[in-house]
Amino acid sequence: MPNFEFKICGFFLKLLVLFTNFLLTKKIKFLLMNKQKAKWNLKFSERENELLKPDKFLTENLALLKKGKLADVACGDGRNAVYLAENGFDVSCFDFSEVAFQKLNTFTFEKKIKIETTLCDLETYNFEGFENCFDSVLVSHFLLQGKFFENLKKILKVGGTLVYSTFNLKQHEATGFRKEFCLQENEILEAFNDFELVKFEQTENEVFLDNYILRKRK
Ligand SMILES: C[S@@+](CC[C@H](N)C(=O)[O-])C[C@H]1O[C@@H](n2cnc3c(N)ncnc32)[C@H](O)[C@@H]1O
Repeated sequence: MPNFEFKICGFFLKLLVLFTNFLLTKKIKFLLMNKQKAKWNLKFSERENELLKPDKFLTENLALLKKGKLADVACGDGRNAVYLAENGFDVSCFDFSEVAFQKLNTFTFEKKIKIETTLCDLETYNFEGFENCFDSVLVSHFLLQGKFFENLKKILKVGGTLVYSTFNLKQHEATGFRKEFCLQENEILEAFNDFELVKFEQTENEVFLDNYILRKRK
């Protein structure tokens, strides 16, 4: 009998350890996320109240994007989103920075355009309600591990275009920019191997970027 009680105690002790670990992991993730968010909020609050120029690869290849509903994922204060809305796209923005969205809202107010905004942490957000919703998806200067690529596939309609433009490993080698924020060679092509490659271009002056346009086949 004491042996049985000992086993029961051991079982509950294990359960307690597992539960504590779970809470701690959640807490650590929450603290790290808040640190990142605070960093970006500070960055945007220090920035002039002026809209930056849209991405060059985007403006040069606008005609390749499928018109209609477009998601700008990790949009920042909206240099690309505003440009796209002014060029006839129905734009929805996703980002976790409230300060970026405050800025974006002043730009859209001044320009009398409409852009939907969703404040979310892309590490955990699963785009519920946005499945097969967008004709085009844009990701500019942003990269995330985990389910991020799967989420982009999920929200894009069949025949829709994905524009992905961000830093590659040369940026890390040249400037020390954090490796986990840089695309590995062929990372996008491997992750989206069920997509058709429409265009690929590398930027090598000042910054090192891989720029892709891909079309969802099925
Ligand atoms: C380098 S900026 C790029 C902004 C914009 N795409 C552009 O090209 O100007 C990165 C953006 O990602 C956002 N971001 C970073 N981590 C995020 C996360 N976990 N969830 C949501 N947004 C995030 C930041 O707030 C910031 O607006």
